[in-house]
Amino acid sequence: MDYKNVTLIDYPIVKRELTRLRDKRTSPEFFRAAVNRLSIILANEISKKFTLKEIVIETPLEKTKGFELKQEVLLVPILRAGLGMVNGFLEVIPDAKVGHVGMERDEKTLEPKSYYFKIPSTKKNTFIIILDPMLATGGSVSAAISKLKGNGINHCVFASIVSAPEGIKKVYKDHPDVEIYTTAIDRELNKKGYILPGLGDAGDRTFGTL
Ligand code: PRP
Ligand code: URA
Repeated sequence: MDYKNVTLIDYPIVKRELTRLRDKRTSPEFFRAAVNRLSIILANEISKKFTLKEIVIETPLEKTKGFELKQEVLLVPILRAGLGMVNGFLEVIPDAKVGHVGMERDEKTLEPKSYYFKIPSTKKNTFIIILDPMLATGGSVSAAISKLKGNGINHCVFASIVSAPEGIKKVYKDHPDVEIYTTAIDRELNKKGYILPGLGDAGDRTFGTL
């Protein structure tokens, strides 16, 4: 199924990394490494949207045209699991700033609870990328986007690793302006709000807190 707000990146190397993430035998060490590699791929894809300004530089031989990014980039990982994606994004965009949003799902109601919010000041054209490997009900990222918008941020994209149709639809309903980049669209959510087939609890698998 095609979703208007989604760019799905699913080429062979992505599928191999995802298989490692989904496999319950994968240890936190290898889980983090696979998240890192997928984050680099997501960052490269999203960076196609950056705009450039021309500059003039001198090679050892002559003057020539060069480029730098027109805008600064702000990464916003959603704690905890989003932290696992930060290093991969910084590999591609080393001068990006990093803000943090703490969101935790209530295990019973599945409603997100905000417990931390620290975002640096941004410019009108700052390119903001929210990071969270899991888009399940969509409650966490939708609340994070609302909080960012409440703080004057009016444009961002969202990078996720595994997305559920339910979450994609919620983000589109609440924030039709936000583009989602993801490496997988899974089948559905179970009764507890876990993605199927999914990979389990991304925060626990990243930090070994199962
Ligand atoms: C997980 C995940 C997302 C959220 C997705 O976080 O990292 O933030 O659930 O679910 P949703 O789309 O239904 O809101 P969790 O609340 O388990 O916190 P953690 O990262 O600290 O483990
Ligand atoms: N959060 C996770 O970490 N995994 C899921 O499957 C759903 C929400």
